[in-house]
Amino acid sequence: MVETYKRTSNPMMNRPVVKPELVDWMRRSQTQLSGDITKVLTFAKENNIPVIPHETVTYFQMLISIMQPKRILEVGTAIGFSALMMAEAAPSAEIVTIDRNPEMIALAKENLEKYDSRHQIILKEGDAADVLSVLKRDEHKKYDIIFMDSAKSKYIEFLPNALDLLSNNGVILMDDIFQAGEILVPIMEIKRTQRALERGLRRLFDEVFDNPKYITSVLPLGDGLLMIKCR
Ligand SMILES: C[S@@+](CC[C@H](N)C(=O)[O-])C[C@H]1O[C@@H](n2cnc3c(N)ncnc32)[C@H](O)[C@@H]1O
Repeated sequence: MVETYKRTSNPMMNRPVVKPELVDWMRRSQTQLSGDITKVLTFAKENNIPVIPHETVTYFQMLISIMQPKRILEVGTAIGFSALMMAEAAPSAEIVTIDRNPEMIALAKENLEKYDSRHQIILKEGDAADVLSVLKRDEHKKYDIIFMDSAKSKYIEFLPNALDLLSNNGVILMDDIFQAGEILVPIMEIKRTQRALERGLRRLFDEVFDNPKYITSVLPLGDGLLMIKCR
């Protein structure tokens, strides 16, 4: 079982691993995005649409440069910011991205139409649970990077299909797994409305941590990025 800590007795809750001023420094000092993608980012910021933060962007750019992926699968397109960023970082890769929210899908389509100049990105509409099953059943393609940035409670449910869709040396990345530290709080002390999400994340940690099938690494980027690779 994943360890939990009492809210009051946990010093980490008051001392985040990465100090806000260091987060700010990472965001300001690392190479900034340029070109059309900044328009998508500005729109996201102005309309409070959550997209990956800059330190995660630079990490993906680095990872993609090292891995040279042929295919990337993303769960959680929103308006297409991270998909477009990955397309730019991997100009010859095919990127499949999934979203179920009609408003986001409409905005993503507009952005892909305007900015996916090499036609690398395929947007699949629908709930990821269904789309992942269809990809597995019908397409027989493997993905070198699978990035999950959607409903956090479902990561554990998406994992079996994601593993089936992963290439031999592929890696799965899951965003926002810290939940601002809530993952350390005993489940009954968490707001009722948040408990399903927290239970889902804890089931995921129980499955992947300390399991000889996987190598995992948690990176303190944004609200926590979990990497999973098969041994
Ligand atoms: C945080 S946003 C994605 C941001 C995007 N990855 C970026 O950085 O530009 C999360 C998106 O996941 C989508 N989503 C959540 N649960 C989903 C599910 N079960 N299936 C498909 N999409 C889902 C939401 O509609 C939302 O647009």
